[in-house]
Amino acid sequence: MAKAKTVFVCRNCGTEAAKWIGKCPSCGQWNTYAEEIVVKTSGVADALFTSGNSKPVKLHEVDSASQPRLDTQTGELNRVLGGGLVRGSVILIGGEPGIGKSTLALQVALAMSNYKVLYISGEESVQQIGMRAERIGRKNENCYVLSEISLQQIFNHLQNLKPDILIIDSVQTLQDEALESSPGSISQIRECAGKLMKYAKETSTPVFLIGHITKDGTLAGPKILEHIVDTVLLFEGDQHYMYRILRASKNRFGATAELGIFEMLHDGLREVQNPSEVLINQSNEGLSGITTAATIDGIRPFLIEVQALVSTAAYGMPQRISTGYDVRRLNMLLAVLERRAGFKLASRDVFLNLAGGLRVTDPALDLAVIGSVLSSGVDKAITKRMCFSAEVGLSGEIRPVTRIESRIREAGRLGFTSIMISGAYDKINLPGKEAIRIVKVNRVEEAVKKLFSKE
Ligand code: TYD
Ligand code: MG
Repeated sequence: MAKAKTVFVCRNCGTEAAKWIGKCPSCGQWNTYAEEIVVKTSGVADALFTSGNSKPVKLHEVDSASQPRLDTQTGELNRVLGGGLVRGSVILIGGEPGIGKSTLALQVALAMSNYKVLYISGEESVQQIGMRAERIGRKNENCYVLSEISLQQIFNHLQNLKPDILIIDSVQTLQDEALESSPGSISQIRECAGKLMKYAKETSTPVFLIGHITKDGTLAGPKILEHIVDTVLLFEGDQHYMYRILRASKNRFGATAELGIFEMLHDGLREVQNPSEVLINQSNEGLSGITTAATIDGIRPFLIEVQALVSTAAYGMPQRISTGYDVRRLNMLLAVLERRAGFKLASRDVFLNLAGGLRVTDPALDLAVIGSVLSSGVDKAITKRMCFSAEVGLSGEIRPVTRIESRIREAGRLGFTSIMISGAYDKINLPGKEAIRIVKVNRVEEAVKKLFSKE
């Protein structure tokens, strides 16, 4: 019988201490220590590497090609995972409540009909999962569901069923009976994740763990959870909009720059293979205040519509309201417009909105924001066939942005006839002869002139 003791554990980084401490000496966070009763068990590293038959091999003799990736039948998920599911990997899917983690996991379970999938939920009953599956409207004879929180019971079932893929919804509900602390506590999460990791490596079964996110956007439970697993995927999006973005924040088997885009519909999540086509509205021709920006998130270029409304301020203080775009950056751009282009905004309200409820931090949006504010301010439409991709500096200079070639190509592919970019590029390497006209500008004044002179 292992010896029980209590320790204080940092909720942020998992550091243990014998007594309560106000500030964690390891991660520097305040007031994160909580008392827990733990049974001294072997650590995660011990659990992983105690199989006893390890021996050093030459790196070039390691056969990595014999490990084909499993197709999740969900293109966007494959893309984020770096080309499919690696056997024996543990993938943590984190996200706010209600964002669609369970829906995504169940959908993947139903889609992978070539494999025996076990979906274990500690939050929903089997009937509730059944109702959800009905909504999604897919059938998979090889998909098993189980409502269980006890880790020991789960391992019993795993031994009998031997699934090819395991999904646990969520890691915070799991309970290892060897520990006295309650589900969701740091030691429970750490032990359960460690044991599941060991199971995944020993049996080469891919394991999806669903994890909750706390209010400040970090995964609930210690950072240790993120260290244990191979891949951390974050499911993000505004609950009031239908678009959801799946992004890798850690991936041992692929790039973290990839992202997958989904749309939440009444019958589950739909993959958005071509985000640009849904984020720009082709029928807005002739309306003022609308521009299109060629942006890149991760390594994926897409076009997004920027909408601005400039109106006379009804009350003394003019309002600056922005959705999806940093309001401080908007204020900066308005100051640049006022100072460099002589555009008076002091007594006007400015509202800015990015289509689809997406948040974009790419500075390449700057020029499109300026364009839409100007267009709304003077109430003149900018041709829908033009898009923008450039950063704007404080002195009004138009600056280059990364990977301009892929942005131009994406704009060309979507039928735009011209794109306004910075004049500071030496050479733009486009493979073929692009049909799109490239308009280079160096200063905001110049951009303003080019936008409104020909109309
Ligand atoms: P859910 O997957 O339960 O979120 P999480 O597991 O991350 O907490 O569901 C998220 C929301 O999605 C829920 O509020 C209802 C909605 N939804 C749909 O719009 N369509 C659907 O087909 C399903 C299953 C859910
Ligand atoms: Mg859920």
